[in-house]
Amino acid sequence: MKYHITPSTTFTGMHKVAPDKSISHRSIMFGSLANGVTRVTNFLEGEDALSTLQAFRDMGVQIDRDGDKVTIYGVGMGGLKAPKKPLDMGNSGTSMRLLSGILSAQDFDSTMIGDESLSKRPMERVAKPLRQMGAVIATTGEKGTPPITITGGQTLSAIHYNMPMASAQVKSCLLLAGLWVKGETVVIEPEITRDHTERMLNAFGYDVKVTPLQNGNEIRLTGGGQLTACDIEVPADISAAAFFMVAGLIAKTGDVVLPKVGINPTRTGVIDILRLMGADITLQNQTLVGGEPVADICVKSSPLHGIEIPLHLVPLAIDEFPVIFIASSCATGKTVLRGAEELRVKESDRIQVMADGLTTLGIDCTVLDDGIEIIGRGQSEFVFGGGEIECHHDHRIAMSFAVASLRASDEIVINGTQTVATSFPNFATLAKEAGLHLEIVDTDLS
Ligand code: S3P
Repeated sequence: MKYHITPSTTFTGMHKVAPDKSISHRSIMFGSLANGVTRVTNFLEGEDALSTLQAFRDMGVQIDRDGDKVTIYGVGMGGLKAPKKPLDMGNSGTSMRLLSGILSAQDFDSTMIGDESLSKRPMERVAKPLRQMGAVIATTGEKGTPPITITGGQTLSAIHYNMPMASAQVKSCLLLAGLWVKGETVVIEPEITRDHTERMLNAFGYDVKVTPLQNGNEIRLTGGGQLTACDIEVPADISAAAFFMVAGLIAKTGDVVLPKVGINPTRTGVIDILRLMGADITLQNQTLVGGEPVADICVKSSPLHGIEIPLHLVPLAIDEFPVIFIASSCATGKTVLRGAEELRVKESDRIQVMADGLTTLGIDCTVLDDGIEIIGRGQSEFVFGGGEIECHHDHRIAMSFAVASLRASDEIVINGTQTVATSFPNFATLAKEAGLHLEIVDTDLS
């Protein structure tokens, strides 16, 4: 599939963006392992979260779904069954990495596979510490990549692990494995990363101790406990909201309200970064939903200026950089990002793929090992020219360049946009309602 987008200048209205992907994944995992029935509302009907859902069905959990309402009949900590075939994680790194922790502790063997993009992503970051815990796990791809095979029936032991990179997926994987371990699992993160696992464990009645360190946190839990089913209302995803926020900011006429978005402080780096660039973003109706803070995010068209992105905000905005690069292109002056080497191992190499696309559209940018420098063209009416973009199986690349059309002089064509369905299935419909001149072209039919 492709997007053909002709320039437009208005981006307005109230839009309910996609439900949170991280929380949707975890609701299925914890609901499946709990005792009792967990009811999830506003579940993300995107392919990534559905991969997790299918994996647990494949392990014998009854999960009923009616649109965004999901009912999970938990099987308890000892109730998962051996899957009859490899578990297919599609494009989803979160599913594969978190499930590595769960599967390493089961008494059955398992294999996990993924699509072309996931099959290139590093899995030794979870396999290595899991082996230290006693897991028998192999990354059978060329470079420590999927497929992953796990030999069950091992007795895992507790680990005290200093994570070499700030990764919520690695942290969550080890905490999940730690649920089956005798003794205390301790994970130290070098910088703060999203804490949905810790919050949801608490919501399911499992004690997790978090001690703040100078930069990140130390997280501890003792294995052998039980999870108790609870109801979960998933907030809207700040990572999905980010596309609408930047669109509202860079449009000539921009004014959007995004209701009930999760504003967990481990996820709000994008708001901080955009505000440092001069963005008019306000939060209204702040409240707590199921242990997660939410708010309506209101954004108005704003002149932006380039900044040096503070290092401590990098892990807190890790998924939002593709669209932050679009905002940086629309700022006056230079924006510099450093300390973001993790972007190279996301669904695509987001530094290189974004730099290639920005260059195609006429932006002056320099790729760094761990980041990028972008010379903004905020003073110009047309920041971007037209051109053809490849999104390399990466949903966030596709949506970011769609937003660029609000400051483009010519048509932007984006190839491979079927990947948007992994996280934000109705992106095109909502973006059109808000003002994008977007046409979906199904290349299979044409
Ligand atoms: C996620 C953690 C982040 C993020 C990913 C989702 C999660 O990855 O990029 O999209 O749900 O735990 P890291 O493990 O690199 O922090």
